[in-house]
Amino acid sequence: MLFPDSSYFMPDISVNTPDREFVISRLNSTNDAWYVGRAGMQYRDLIPGRLGGRFIASHIRIPDGGETQDYVHYHKALFQMIYCKAGWARVVYEDQGPPFALEAGDCALQPPEIRHRVLESSAGLEVIEVACPAEYETRADHEMRLPTRDISPERLFGGQRFARHRAREASWEPWRLDGFEARDTGIAAATNGLAAVRVVKSDSAITAPAHGHAGEFLFLFILQGELRIDSRGQGNHQLRAGDSCVIPAGVDYTLRADVGLEMLEVNLPADLPRY
Ligand SMILES: [Fe+2]
Repeated sequence: MLFPDSSYFMPDISVNTPDREFVISRLNSTNDAWYVGRAGMQYRDLIPGRLGGRFIASHIRIPDGGETQDYVHYHKALFQMIYCKAGWARVVYEDQGPPFALEAGDCALQPPEIRHRVLESSAGLEVIEVACPAEYETRADHEMRLPTRDISPERLFGGQRFARHRAREASWEPWRLDGFEARDTGIAAATNGLAAVRVVKSDSAITAPAHGHAGEFLFLFILQGELRIDSRGQGNHQLRAGDSCVIPAGVDYTLRADVGLEMLEVNLPADLPRY
């Protein structure tokens, strides 16, 4: 979680076998409810079925900005990333230096049990958060003061480094499908191959040939423009900004992107095997 939430308590972090479910979530569907959480935060559940308890993805927004009621805390999650879709949040992380603003287009990897705190947010903050497992323990740390005196960007937390990706400094490179470009967030390197997070774009209309993957998790969130996913057995779907999709292993699909598509891609493992 971006913010601590006492409703997230699990005895351990073991997880079930993931369900191979094809999941579409639409921003404007009538059953797509925003529910109000703590401190006026609004949540949209992007994977209601939780894939056997393995993954959670949330679209979170905070209409009113200002100082937050947050305190130093940490999460017992195996994987947790936050992408800032709009606005900014001022955050501070253990051993990562002074507070900084996570701005629109930026992304952070929160490695297991890193202490952190959200200090302030802009009005209209929107973030996408993806974590594994779907439920994990959150604990307060009343001893630690942030920022810490030590700065140690290479420190490992549960085998992962903290990663901060700044959209402003990013460069675009070819994606795994011809014609698309992507900016890598550095999360594949920071997690030692556990997960990859990229922002993918198309500057022209593209149809990618049918393909599939044999990985554990592939999640797409449309940031701008439109994407059509045609899949054998799972139907054809036109996705627009705010819509998202989980494509399970073993499903053949074709992607058709419009000019100006921009989407967030999260996959485990980082090197998504083809099938
Ligand atoms: Fe948090």
